[in-house]
Amino acid sequence: MKTIKLSATDSTNSFLKDLSQNSTLENFTTVVTQNQTKGRGQQQNKWVSDPYKNLTFSVFISFQDLKVIQKKYLNFAISLAIYNVLFTKNLPKPSIKWPNDILSANKKICGILIENTFSGDRIKNSYVGIGLNVNQETFPEYLNNATSLKLETGIAYDLDILLPTVLEEIKKNIKLLTSKKFTLLEEKYLDVLYKKNIPTMFKNSKDEIFMGIISGISDFGKLQVQLEDDTIKEFGLKEISFL
Ligand code: BTN
Repeated sequence: MKTIKLSATDSTNSFLKDLSQNSTLENFTTVVTQNQTKGRGQQQNKWVSDPYKNLTFSVFISFQDLKVIQKKYLNFAISLAIYNVLFTKNLPKPSIKWPNDILSANKKICGILIENTFSGDRIKNSYVGIGLNVNQETFPEYLNNATSLKLETGIAYDLDILLPTVLEEIKKNIKLLTSKKFTLLEEKYLDVLYKKNIPTMFKNSKDEIFMGIISGISDFGKLQVQLEDDTIKEFGLKEISFL
């Protein structure tokens, strides 16, 4: 596994994508920086992380035989890898919030941005970007729902030791994916899914508030919610938020 360390870059995902356009990359090639100046999050959000405190990195994975319809399992594999590593650190109440925020006691400790290229009905390349809050102890007011490993466990972690541990776990879970252990990945994911089977308040894209119970994830990766009239509705990322 080749790891490229940059003293600073705008976004490790963007850097890795550019790199893969100009050279053939080995699977699990990783780009990491301690100073990401223009980190990108889901839904065009920014990812802000204090320099020298956290892990911000991206991993290149190329697939031979992963169908676009199986994309949700890639998401399960990656989020579970982070979950598993954090679980070993005795983090209080770790969970995965759909689709792939990693939480500790309801606060966000890690964000994941997976960008893919496609070839026909297959996923070709994946650029898996991970922002894991490790040693940061204060967050700006607007990130009041953020936390870090240090805040939750009281322990400071060496980023150079933590990164290979996370990469090993990613590799392990991608192996499960490429050996088509889809049911196993889905079961594990649902097992640790935030608010699974618990009546929860949501907001839809029209800002309407409603109660529902998360029942699963659809084939296309949408969140399935059982409504009060017992019907099950599916929501995409832009169509629902947790209250
Ligand atoms: C999210 O929760 O919105 C996803 C955040 C993903 C952030 C990581 S940091 C490393 C990689 N490079 C980026 O620009 N984004 C991802």
